[in-house]
Amino acid sequence: MTTKQLFGKRIVLGVGGSIAAYKAILLLRRLTDLGADVEVVMTASARQFITPLTFQTLSGHPVHTDLFATDDNMTHLRLAETADLILVSPATANLIGRFAQGLADDLLSTLILASHAPLLLVPAMDGGMWQHPLVQQNVKTLRETGVEVLDPEFGTLASGHIGWGRFPSEETIMSSIISLLTMPGDYHNEVLLITAGPTHEAIDPVRYITNRSSGKMGYALAQSAQKRGAQVTFITGPTSLTPPPGVHTISVSTAEEMQDEVHKHFARATVVIMAAAVADYRLTHPAETKLKKQGQKHLSLALSLTPDIVGNLAAKKTGQFMVGFAAETENLIEEATRKLKEKGLDMIVANDVTQPDAGFGSDTNAAIVLDAHGIVEDMPLMPKRGMAMKILDLIRVCLDNRQ
Ligand SMILES: Cc1cc2nc3c(=O)[nH]c(=O)nc-3n(C[C@H](O)[C@H](O)[C@H](O)COP(=O)(O)O)c2cc1C
Repeated sequence: MTTKQLFGKRIVLGVGGSIAAYKAILLLRRLTDLGADVEVVMTASARQFITPLTFQTLSGHPVHTDLFATDDNMTHLRLAETADLILVSPATANLIGRFAQGLADDLLSTLILASHAPLLLVPAMDGGMWQHPLVQQNVKTLRETGVEVLDPEFGTLASGHIGWGRFPSEETIMSSIISLLTMPGDYHNEVLLITAGPTHEAIDPVRYITNRSSGKMGYALAQSAQKRGAQVTFITGPTSLTPPPGVHTISVSTAEEMQDEVHKHFARATVVIMAAAVADYRLTHPAETKLKKQGQKHLSLALSLTPDIVGNLAAKKTGQFMVGFAAETENLIEEATRKLKEKGLDMIVANDVTQPDAGFGSDTNAAIVLDAHGIVEDMPLMPKRGMAMKILDLIRVCLDNRQ
């Protein structure tokens, strides 16, 4: 990270009425240290938690609080038109609801509607509020409209309860801000085929075999590639995530369905990233009706290999750059090298899923990237979004070297 990476970037920092409002001060400091010009807008509730003076001193600008301020009643348009990014941090449940409904009843909501700048929301709230179906519906609506909404983290909340709703780490927020503001358009000539998530292999109509994949790495890759200008076809197994806006998303359930879709879209692709954790086995004969206990102590299920999606593509390859993933619990490098060779991949991203905060389910990952010559890069623990950008950087270098 260069010291003045955000020099020349104009950011509007909206602060909502959350107990986490003080954390916006630390963010403001980080942003101005990187050279960004930040103007702060506080909601009336935010001012109950913290006074504007600190923001004003650190930003070097007066803090905006009033849509109808008599000194400058066009503030909302000036801020809307000149911002490179609108960051709302913390974003309350109330703000999320108002933005999702397109309301414009204070300075912050009005300037958001008036602006074409990317909008990044950093939610912070009580776990019960975050998980409320109406809040989740509002978040979904915003994400579908192209608004970036970070997921809050799990942990101890201001109420003393433990749950989802915690303000995300400063590193996660900074990495999202930097990628939104410094996104290169270096993939605009590429057609990417990306897979993500687990597969579900039926045992009977109500049960299935699956794995712990959350899909977050593949979703981050699809979103980042699309933002860098790629045309993305995204094939996802069952996850709880919202498909990235602007990405052609195809939902599948089983390994076989995933293979069918991958084969359909393979010929057009220039880069294929197989981030899905596809089940290796499925039931040879899934039951047509629900299996009953019937008193037996043990139950054996006959399993058969699922199709080797990546391996089966080798014969169809017409120059696609192929990237695979290897989630391992031991002999990481050996296993990844074996897969790279056996499956004819150009690059493999290997991660040790026994490491805390790396791999399945978490928002962060650590991985080693290998190609036929050995280790390309050892990536330390970082947000999956940041890792997606780094993987795309590495692929870009390989594509450029090929030409
Ligand atoms: C002590 C206290 C802490 C609060 N913390 C939060 C919070 O973290 N997140 C949230 O969504 N609302 C929180 N609220 C509720 C909001 O302040 C309230 O919904 C307010 O209307 C939000 O206004 P705004 O969205 O315009 O900033 C809190 C309220 C109080 C009294």
